Parts: sequence; structure tokens; C-alpha cells
Amino acid sequence: MSTHESSVAQQDDVQQQIEENLVNEVVTSFDKTDDPRLKFLLQRLVVHLHDFVRDVRLTEEEWEYAINFLTEVGHITDDKRQEFVLLSDTLGVSMQTIAVNNQAYKNATEATVFGPFFVEDAPEIPIGGDIAQGAKGQPAWIEGTVTDTAGRPVSNARVEVWESDEDGFYDVQYSDGRTAGRAHLYTDENGKYAFWGVTPVPYPIPYDGPVGAMLQATKRSPLRAAHLHFMVTAPGLRTLVTHIFVDGDPQLAAGDSVFGVKRSLIKRFETQPAGTPTPDGRDVSRTGDGTWSSCNFDIVLAPETAH
Ligand code: BEZ
Ligand code: FE
Repeated sequence: MSTHESSVAQQDDVQQQIEENLVNEVVTSFDKTDDPRLKFLLQRLVVHLHDFVRDVRLTEEEWEYAINFLTEVGHITDDKRQEFVLLSDTLGVSMQTIAVNNQAYKNATEATVFGPFFVEDAPEIPIGGDIAQGAKGQPAWIEGTVTDTAGRPVSNARVEVWESDEDGFYDVQYSDGRTAGRAHLYTDENGKYAFWGVTPVPYPIPYDGPVGAMLQATKRSPLRAAHLHFMVTAPGLRTLVTHIFVDGDPQLAAGDSVFGVKRSLIKRFETQPAGTPTPDGRDVSRTGDGTWSSCNFDIVLAPETAH
């Protein structure tokens, strides 16, 4: 090694020591935290954040850019618009948290992202009722059974469902206060549920804010694959937050902007020609071209204690 090379190596060592000392100093600053989980989370966060800065050799301009970006994310966020959740979703952090917390359990239905459009206290409908309530779209009949992992029917499970209309908007995205495309119902004594909705279509996540700018700068599409949301709850069983996706939707191959797709959740929405009798005799010819679709989605809930 030449004298020059050995002096560069020494400088590198000194630099590395300075950086490591700082990480240790910050980690130690949390040593007196009483709550052991809080202490663990903060200390590991510091290690990973510092690792990132050191790994990418973050420039001061880049750090400032990141701070400004997060400031914009905060400014656009209010009680209707949650840009931090969108950021987490588009970085795949929401799906990673779901993966960590909903480990596969036997044949239990897989979970996916919750999204920002759930509303508490959506109207109750009877089995076979209509969640659309004026939401535009091709009528869709969705039915299935809720069971536990041993195949036992779960009666009286609460099934929350919500979806966008055929223009890709949820009711809460309109300013007229409408409630449409959402409801809850309860399974019968055999665990069965059924309802009318609309055939889901792909739609973009809100992209007029900083997250949209990130997607545009990275040539990523804001589109989500067509889906219909479910949240199923029953005593003693793990709450399931999931969607069903539409088999054949081109957006499945193109990619879902929040990484929510799982193969097991892709279901056939069979289009029925106009004039095909509906399961409950409903006349669907008044609202569109008379076609409708049907989909079966059987739901299996893990025990509450499943990890
Ligand atoms: C949704 O499916 O509703 C959704 C999920 C994540 C981000 C935006 C929208
Ligand atoms: Fe959605």
C-alpha cells in the first residue's frame, strides 16, 4: 500500500468511527425510556434511519427536499384527505405491516390494504339488499359464505362492504354528502351473505398532491386494480380487512399502485347477458343495458388468537 493509499484508508476509518459514534450516542439517548416497546422502536428506528443516510450518502439538498416533501404531505392532510396513509400505501409500507400482522393461517382468507374510504356507520341492508343506492355501474350480485378454518359456518358475522362507482369515485369524494356504494349486513344461520353492488372498475388513488408528484416523477401509475372492499368481524375470530379483485382486469397485470393484489383474492365476475334471470328476481333492465355480473366469494376467518 502506498503512503497515499494508507492515509486515505485512515481517513475512511476516522469518518466511519465518527458516523458510528453518532448512531450510538443517539441510541443511548433513549436508554432511560420506561416503556420497553417504545424504547425498542425508537432505538431501532434510529439505527435504520442512520443506516439509510449513510448507505445512500444523503446530500444536504436531498435532506432538505425530503423535509419539504413531508411538509407538503402534512399540509394537504386533513380529516378527509390522509396523504401520509397514501405515502405509506404507495411505498408498500401498509402492505408490509399487514403482512407482518396477518400471517397466513391455514386456509384463512388473506388480508389486504384498508384504504382511506371506509366510513363508520354505513347503512345496514338485509341479505340480498343493494349497497349501490344510486352508485352508477353494472349491477353485480356478490354472494358467499363465512366460515371458520374448520369449515364451520359463522352466523351473524358483520360484513362491511364498500366500493367506488363506475366513474371511479367513492361517495365521500362527491361534495353532495351522498351515501352510495357502501353498507353492512349480517350472515344468516348458515353463514351466508349476498348483496347487490356494482361491478368494480380500476380507479386512481388521489394524485393531485405530493404523493401524485412522486408517482409522476417515477413514471408510476396511480391506478388501483378494480376491487370491492370487505371488512368481516365476528366474536372470537380475527377481523378480516380485504378486497376482491376482478379476474381479467388488465390493471392486475399492469400493477396496483398500493401493492394490494393477492392471487387468492382475484375472483370471477361472470357477466350475464341482458335478460338472464337474476338470483332474487330483481329487474336490472331499468338501470343500464340489462347485463349484470355475478361473483362468489367464500370467506374463511382465522381464530382471534392466530398470529
Ligand atoms: C382504496 O382502495 O380505496 C385505496 C387504498 C389505498 C390508497 C388509496 C385508495
Ligand atoms: Fe378502494
